[in-house]
Amino acid sequence: MRGRRVLVTGASSGIGEAVTRLLAAQGYRVALLARNRDRLDAVAADLPPHPDGKHLVLPCDLTRPEEIEAAVEVLRGAFGGLDLLVNNAGIGYRARVSELDPEPLRRVFDTNVFALLLTCKACYPLLTRGERPVVVNISSVVGRRGIPGQAGYSASKAAVCSIGEALRVEWAEEDIAVSTLNPALTATGFFQNQLNPQELPDPDLDEASPAIDVAREILALDRAPRPEVSLRWKWRALGILSILSPRLADLALVKRLGGGWRAPRRRG
Ligand SMILES: NC(=O)c1ccc[n+]([C@@H]2O[C@H](COP(=O)([O-])OP(=O)(O)OC[C@H]3O[C@@H](n4cnc5c(N)ncnc54)[C@H](OP(=O)(O)O)[C@@H]3O)[C@@H](O)[C@H]2O)c1
Repeated sequence: MRGRRVLVTGASSGIGEAVTRLLAAQGYRVALLARNRDRLDAVAADLPPHPDGKHLVLPCDLTRPEEIEAAVEVLRGAFGGLDLLVNNAGIGYRARVSELDPEPLRRVFDTNVFALLLTCKACYPLLTRGERPVVVNISSVVGRRGIPGQAGYSASKAAVCSIGEALRVEWAEEDIAVSTLNPALTATGFFQNQLNPQELPDPDLDEASPAIDVAREILALDRAPRPEVSLRWKWRALGILSILSPRLADLALVKRLGGGWRAPRRRG
């Protein structure tokens, strides 16, 4: 796997930073993309040098399609092709549906859904020139079981799962493997960075996995791609229960979440 060329979106912090560091340590040549150039420069400066050339810093706001095009053009010039695309950039928005504000809701879908699709589109020609090309899309366990207070975010992550299902068949002919990874609660700055941090209480981060655990799953998916992986067996079970018995899944979910949520009353 030495010498593989990877683009990581959202490489300036959290899971993206952790996977950037892990892959560079494994000999990958990394293109780091996010909005915060100073953070990207700081992470890139800390990476082991690559024999084929420098790692690449791509400052880019993914909610602007023209910036995605421009960044991928720079990537094409520097790397020529792409072996691994990690669509990780994402943003959270917690609000009850009765209190949703359209502007942050739109930003969630622009970042988590539209940008991911447009990044896949822009990178397609590079992936077709890649070695054993792989795409890993970072969704969330809440993409397989929506949770209260995060309906908009959950829906955006359900869309990411759906995109993975479509894309892995669409790109089978070119032999581009597409994996969806659904992390559970992970200890990053995600909850501070979300669009309305004060609206609902933060989850208990004592239960959170370290970002490096998710980064290792991404590396494992590049080595042996699988269609979809959900982290934490309780969330996997909840996803399956939601299809088999939504009522039981509601009960299990409110028990797991705490925070005063209650399951719907049975009527009739
Ligand atoms: N933490 C969790 O509990 C958890 C659980 C399940 C799934 N996830 C998912 O994991 C992924 C990574 O999240 P994280 O936990 O590592 O949070 P994070 O530390 O807040 O990282 C988010 C990354 O996305 C980038 N980003 C946000 N908006 C962007 C935009 N418009 N253009 C370019 N880059 C943008 C941020 O960089 P800049 O601000 O520099 O642009 C940052 O690097 C997200 O997709 C998230 O939904 C997280």
